[in-house]
Amino acid sequence: MHIVHIALEMAPIAKVGGLGDVVTSLSRAIQDLDHRVDIILPKYDCLNHNNVEDFKYHKNYFWNGTEIKVWHGKVEGLSVYFLEPQNEFFRVGRIYGCANDAQRFGFFCHAALEYLFQEGFHPDIIHCHDWSSAPVAWLCKEQYTHCSLSKAGIVFTIHNLEFGANLIGKAMAYTDMATTVSPTYSREVYGNSTIASHRHKFHGILNGIDPDIWDPFNDKFIPISYTSKNVVEGKKAAKEALQQKLGLRKVDLPLLGVISRLTNQKGIQLIKHAIYRTLERGGQVVLLGSAPDPCIQNEFENLANQLHSLHHDRVRLCLVYDEPLSHLIYAGADFIAVPSIFEPCGLTQLVAMRYGSIPIVRKTGGLYDTVFDIDDDKDRAHAEYLKPNGFSFDGADATGVDYALKRAISRWYKDRDWFNTLCKTVMEQDWSWNRPTLHYLELYHVARKTSCCS
Ligand code: ADP
Ligand code: GLC
Repeated sequence: MHIVHIALEMAPIAKVGGLGDVVTSLSRAIQDLDHRVDIILPKYDCLNHNNVEDFKYHKNYFWNGTEIKVWHGKVEGLSVYFLEPQNEFFRVGRIYGCANDAQRFGFFCHAALEYLFQEGFHPDIIHCHDWSSAPVAWLCKEQYTHCSLSKAGIVFTIHNLEFGANLIGKAMAYTDMATTVSPTYSREVYGNSTIASHRHKFHGILNGIDPDIWDPFNDKFIPISYTSKNVVEGKKAAKEALQQKLGLRKVDLPLLGVISRLTNQKGIQLIKHAIYRTLERGGQVVLLGSAPDPCIQNEFENLANQLHSLHHDRVRLCLVYDEPLSHLIYAGADFIAVPSIFEPCGLTQLVAMRYGSIPIVRKTGGLYDTVFDIDDDKDRAHAEYLKPNGFSFDGADATGVDYALKRAISRWYKDRDWFNTLCKTVMEQDWSWNRPTLHYLELYHVARKTSCCS
């Protein structure tokens, strides 16, 4: 099959959050099964060109009175076309957050379809993501009926229903197949008016992570390579390197990591509570996160000042986006907390496990589907042929956080052998795309068939 993703994010060159990771890692997994994958992205000014191989000018074309230059390169082994309209549309220093986001993304979606048409591409599947590339679904079905693009199956993935409800609703009406990023989130949003009348074509498929991109055996940002066999040694070296880098005391205390966009979705109050409680219990905390909302950023900057002066050797709040530091935290932390209010899938808990860190999560969406509580979820884990792998809680409040955090930290202090075995266990679980890719391929076939028959 030939699959084209039209997307606004792609890791690591244009990543804001998990959507960017998924575009890259799902594409790589599908390509590894011998399918052809191309990705179309805007050529943002803020693109991280260092990670684009063979980047060169490809051609230009005209659409609707605008000249669009097309560049091509390889990112993580994937073929990527970059569209650069000669009308200042993408000359911005950031991906989201401009007043004309909807307009410029709509322009991009139409320009991408027009490129496929003018270039004579005949993809089997066009895959679009979230509100930002939702227009692809109806533009393709309404405006390209005269050409072979009309035969392409459209697949639309909802990564987060919180944004762009109208655009998502419209795409749901036109798309051949729709997915969201975990089975539990699909059930949580089933009753939502945007979804309800399209349930027959809506599927929850769990995201995976790319085990080659997130690989503690081959990671230039951590001090020594490790697998589950030398996890204790590997994590010890990473913890010391992290403490050294951030100026924390080099002692063996339970270290809680948080790596997150700081938004209400991620449970800001619960994150703060987890920080205070960990410090109270004698642990260390490293938070890496940035807030799109300046008020929240400001709130965390104040908290950082306060905490750094009270516990300068035990806590660091790094309020930036920093990919290399995230790798060191995944490797150096004992626990990674993800206390989200809602979470369509969540990749941080999956990456944490790949690096042998134990997830502490709220039972919602994809967090529920991937983290099985040591004490409460034995049967559920076994039903998935897994061993329990973390700590979790239900209530979106301080009591909930306490319930999970208290058990996690006291087990760490009480029985290090047990804890080290748990680190080994989580590292050996497979959260790659191996299984989800097969679901996507099935769905691509159905989408293609639906489109051809309509
Ligand atoms: P979301 O997409 O809702 O933000 P996910 O858990 O799906 O949540 O994905 C978050 C991704 O962004 C992960 O790859 C995580 O490591 C990364 N990330 C989040 N915040 C930061 C940060 N401040 N610096 C570096 N990486 C970050
Ligand atoms: C969204 C969701 C997150 C998910 C990611 C990738 O950003 O908030 O839960 O993991 O998309 O699908």
